[in-house]
Amino acid sequence: MRFAPISDRLAGLGAAKWAVHNEGLRRSSLGQQVIMLSIGEPDLPPPAKVIDQAISSMRAGRTKYAAGQGEPEALEAIARHLSKRSGNVVTPEEVLYTAGTQNGLCTALYTLVQSGDEVLVPDPYYATYEGLVAASGATFVPVPTSPENGFHVTAEAIERAITPRSRVLLLNTPSNPTGAVLSEQEIDAIGDVCERHDLWIICDEVYADMTYDAPFCSPFDRKQLRHRTLAVSSISKSHALPGFRAGWVACPAEVTPRLVLVAEAMLFGSQPFIEDALVVALTEQHDEVQRMRVAYRERAQVLVEAINGSDAVSARMPEGGMFVMVDVRATKLSGQEFAWKLLDDHNIGVMPGESFGLGGAGHIRIALTVEASVLRKACEIIRTMAESLVAKAK
Ligand SMILES: Cc1ncc(COP(=O)(O)O)c(C=O)c1O
Repeated sequence: MRFAPISDRLAGLGAAKWAVHNEGLRRSSLGQQVIMLSIGEPDLPPPAKVIDQAISSMRAGRTKYAAGQGEPEALEAIARHLSKRSGNVVTPEEVLYTAGTQNGLCTALYTLVQSGDEVLVPDPYYATYEGLVAASGATFVPVPTSPENGFHVTAEAIERAITPRSRVLLLNTPSNPTGAVLSEQEIDAIGDVCERHDLWIICDEVYADMTYDAPFCSPFDRKQLRHRTLAVSSISKSHALPGFRAGWVACPAEVTPRLVLVAEAMLFGSQPFIEDALVVALTEQHDEVQRMRVAYRERAQVLVEAINGSDAVSARMPEGGMFVMVDVRATKLSGQEFAWKLLDDHNIGVMPGESFGLGGAGHIRIALTVEASVLRKACEIIRTMAESLVAKAK
């Protein structure tokens, strides 16, 4: 039997990254008490009003095909949401409804690149990006960042990675895994480079509503960059509804019809009752959303306090998102070795930094998705383990 090369390109990109996580899940299923700090599945409840809307819309028969671009009310709600955050008017013609951020990123990449093109991605990067770019046929080009600079990608590093084949810069702010939030000045400097080299910017903003002190800035909100930006997001994290698969791409109006063609080839419309629920998510105030933001910040603080002051591990307060990178380089173990040891010796599951690219080497990523008391206990164990490794090495 013959297959198209896409599945060969994708094979092997996923499994190794998730090996520690999958083993943690397997041990949990056998009854072991494992503290899972590996993936970004929100643990707090979603807004009740959003769930109620999905149910009542289903009962009201909103179960037929939705319009390919998205239901008019959903497009309006997303456009209003984006207009409100920047003060720049966004119209429904500049919005495509998607089945979450991942589907939006895939739609955007399929529309913009093909085999022979290059996509620049700041490293460390979200674990699915390699697969997304590989699926499109384009070549994945990591752009190095440094932990000493809080993993902020610089305009200079991006410019150094550009070749005549570069087509797209795939940004992610706030970043998973690093928690870096790009400032307006950084976005503008990066935007200048994209302007000079005529690159599209795809900005994954799934954590846009989860910044701590640094204000969120999107290239889509910068007037001079909007014509080359596709901003992709969802209510997966902001409203703790990843299973709803409800998101969007915001883009220049002339790009939308091209995205719709690709989206229709993939899905031919989503679920109207979920789109109705997204309208409620984005247009009403929800106490649950506020509680979540407070909880993630508190947990990040708890983690940083528990880790810092050690000569064996360190962590910076993230600027946004729901993850913290913990630097374990002083133990002389790789992130992967550290993560396996933590699982084997202490029943704690974390992600090795290397799962997010070479830039994550010597780190582990911790998800802020358990109660503060559990997180504190886990961090104390991590610290003690790291300190004993350093002491043994002396
Ligand atoms: C950076 C980043 N982008 C996209 C996604 C996927 O988002 P969605 O559930 O909206 O597809 C995640 C999920 O963890 C993420 O961390």
